Amino acid sequence: MSENGLDPVRIALIGAGSRGLGAYGAHVLRRPDLARIVAVADRLGERLALAGHLHDISPAHLYPSWEAMLDCEPAFDAVIIATPDREHLAPALATIERAAGISLLLEKPICPTEEEMERLATAVEASGADVTVAHVLRYTAFFARIRELLDRGVIGQLLSIRHTEHVGYWHFAHSYVRGNWRRLDEASPMLLAKACHDLDILRWLAGAPCTHVASFGTLSHFTSANAPAGSTARCDQGCRIERTCPYSAQRIYLETLPPASAWPHDVVSADTSPAALARALHEGPYGRCVYHCDNDVADHQVVALRFANGVDATLNVSAFTRETTRTVHLMGSHGEITGDFYANAITVADFRNADTRTSRLTLVTEGYHGGGDDGLMVDFLNRVRERRRNGKVEEAPTALAESLDSHRMAFAAERARHSGDVIRLGA
Ligand SMILES: NC(=O)c1ccc[n+]([C@@H]2O[C@H](COP(=O)([O-])OP(=O)(O)OC[C@H]3O[C@@H](n4cnc5c(N)ncnc54)[C@H](O)[C@@H]3O)[C@@H](O)[C@H]2O)c1
Repeated sequence: MSENGLDPVRIALIGAGSRGLGAYGAHVLRRPDLARIVAVADRLGERLALAGHLHDISPAHLYPSWEAMLDCEPAFDAVIIATPDREHLAPALATIERAAGISLLLEKPICPTEEEMERLATAVEASGADVTVAHVLRYTAFFARIRELLDRGVIGQLLSIRHTEHVGYWHFAHSYVRGNWRRLDEASPMLLAKACHDLDILRWLAGAPCTHVASFGTLSHFTSANAPAGSTARCDQGCRIERTCPYSAQRIYLETLPPASAWPHDVVSADTSPAALARALHEGPYGRCVYHCDNDVADHQVVALRFANGVDATLNVSAFTRETTRTVHLMGSHGEITGDFYANAITVADFRNADTRTSRLTLVTEGYHGGGDDGLMVDFLNRVRERRRNGKVEEAPTALAESLDSHRMAFAAERARHSGDVIRLGA
């Protein structure tokens, strides 16, 4: 442990991918006063090399497995686990066991199955470990402002919430048809992967535990039965409708999205030059026709929720939207709040005013997830520094125990979707 709580936090990173390096690593590079990445574990040599280069880490502290890192690495204050969904449980259990006294930041979803999640919850409770879940939305100015408006009673008693996750047609095709979250056996249910954040926010805004869950949704569109005549297995194999298909890989990555060196282009190819991207689309998974993939997760899902204080809510998650944003509508006894997350706009209507005045608040945020990634890291790192200074663990806003509810709601919604039943929680 560092002797001075104000020294930068020493982080050991497990999983140097899009989130590990792209979100958390990038934050550390922007805030060297707060933290340093001192050791990295990743299965891929190229990711280790990139991490070593970006963070100036000697090869001795770059490990091909998290087991080796936890065995050998002498000194760190915090561990970040940013491995794929199905690789969270084992490193999390090992970190808690072998690195007592450190703080752990665990990517969401906590685990892809309820059994694994409950196993981890039991271990964390028994050890008293400090585990923060990366529910980044709670750290955004947008949702913090809505919560503050509710707490101030500006719409009276909250009665219902309508929340929509507009995944975006190209984003859905990228992640859930061609990409890493397309299959249940390789990742997790779409609702858990994409919307456990939203369930966490609904639980937080409602202000009470969820008691009942119903859900409908399926994989309707991205199937071989919907393959248009003339389509081919890959978009650049002479597909006859490629020029008019919204899901054409060539159109999405090379024409529609602005040229960029960052996400999602860097997932398609580490080298994001146009020639390298075209090569990756020709050979790799992201050039496949969306109607000829091996995906099986739902492409749209609705969830109805009842909370213990009588608040009712709906969550609608859909691939079939032009924008990639979240919109929310909170209805209270004396007013309503509407918000568009990526437009950073919140409108409040107060029924008590004769003219029902509406005020528009514009919030300024930076970085991914409306500033949530940076907000999460600042909170996490400050808590680690404080713990180092005075030895006390201050509970995170998204501590594991607090985050279990959102995941239990997601698993219940999956059961409801498959059975058609209304699932009672906590009964
Ligand atoms: N908080 C959020 O908003 C948010 C957003 C996107 C993704 N995620 C989650 O973050 C996690 C990581 O996603 P990503 O997009 O960075 O994935 P990624 O594939 O880009 O990165 C994962 C990295 O982990 C490495 N890895 C795989 N198995 C490993 C193992 N056993 N030991 C060590 N390294 C291993 C891979 O080589 C890769 O470099 C996932 O669980 C994902 O669902 C969270």
